[in-house]
Amino acid sequence: MTHNKVGLGTFPLSSVFNPITPNEAEKLVRKFIDEGGCYIDTAPLYGNGEIEKILGKVFKSVPREKFYLITKTVKHVDEYGQLFKSGKYEDVVKQIDNSLSRLGLDYVDCLMVHSPDKDVPIEETLRAMEKLQNDGKVKELAVSNVNLNELMEYNKTGKIRYVENSFSMINHSISSELEEYLLNNKISLIPYHLLEIGLLTGIAFENFKLSETDLRNKVPYWNQENQKVIFEWVRNSLAPIAKKLGITIGQLNIAWALQQPFIDFIIVGTTKPKYLEINLKANDIELSKETLSEIDEAYNVLEQKIKSDYGKSIREFRGLNEKFY
Ligand SMILES: NC(=O)c1ccc[n+]([C@@H]2O[C@H](COP(=O)([O-])OP(=O)(O)OC[C@H]3O[C@@H](n4cnc5c(N)ncnc54)[C@H](OP(=O)(O)O)[C@@H]3O)[C@@H](O)[C@H]2O)c1
Repeated sequence: MTHNKVGLGTFPLSSVFNPITPNEAEKLVRKFIDEGGCYIDTAPLYGNGEIEKILGKVFKSVPREKFYLITKTVKHVDEYGQLFKSGKYEDVVKQIDNSLSRLGLDYVDCLMVHSPDKDVPIEETLRAMEKLQNDGKVKELAVSNVNLNELMEYNKTGKIRYVENSFSMINHSISSELEEYLLNNKISLIPYHLLEIGLLTGIAFENFKLSETDLRNKVPYWNQENQKVIFEWVRNSLAPIAKKLGITIGQLNIAWALQQPFIDFIIVGTTKPKYLEINLKANDIELSKETLSEIDEAYNVLEQKIKSDYGKSIREFRGLNEKFY
């Protein structure tokens, strides 16, 4: 059976962007699974363990084979709700039990390094993850926020199945070397921030203002100048392509990502049931070669504009660095 390739990212369920109650979050996850969604990405960090607990409530009444659950390691939340970072063998081995207990599961489908612990050898973290795999507590292994060298080190024993890095129509973070490595090693990219936390959606048409508590206030590429330039680009270059196809701008972005050869499935976060429905439907959209070329042309337009107005590359303009691969 092939699963819907539009997964659910659960970071926004902790009200970091738009507000959502735990009850609404639980309903949203239930709706996601009821409507055929399968892949769910979470982490102990999200709401300091609270999102894993909400997922656990939903999973109680869902057959295990209906969902594929990714949670993370190295950024841990202990049994007292305390957050700490450690890639040490004993911490990785011990903390999975706290995640499993919050999730109410015997195993997770995928355990992912949230981001490397630079103070601990990669080999040590990997050894712990392989033990958990051998013990049956995790099925597949993954890493996040890594460059090619780090990925190669994590994949020394050939066990890494996924890499989760930020990637979008305006964040071409995958170099040709990394792409080749992914394809040669049957590792798939799980892109995060595919919708650029809302920048690449219909909100470009709204009189949009972030609330004071919204985490996007602290994201470099959500500053006023970036919003202005990207929203204008979405309105003038991307929206007409989506309109012609009768789909939303968000769906265009999702469908585009799903057609990349190094992507098996994607994750998108939302706090709104109607967006969930729209996003899941993007699974069935296939973009023609002509549309893909139009998207490439649109990207070139943005690149040229930023170069002529600011004398910078898109990456420089958006303040992307090692942290935002
Ligand atoms: N590995 C890592 O270090 C890492 C880092 C960041 C994120 N992640 C994972 O990646 C997931 C995705 O990232 P993200 O959730 O931060 O950002 P995202 O998927 O790029 O965008 C989510 C935002 O877009 C809006 N949105 C979603 N669907 C929409 C639609 N159809 N129309 C209009 N707006 C829409 C949502 O707003 P509403 O609130 O209005 O729905 C939400 O705030 C996270 O949830 C998390 O699981 C991983």
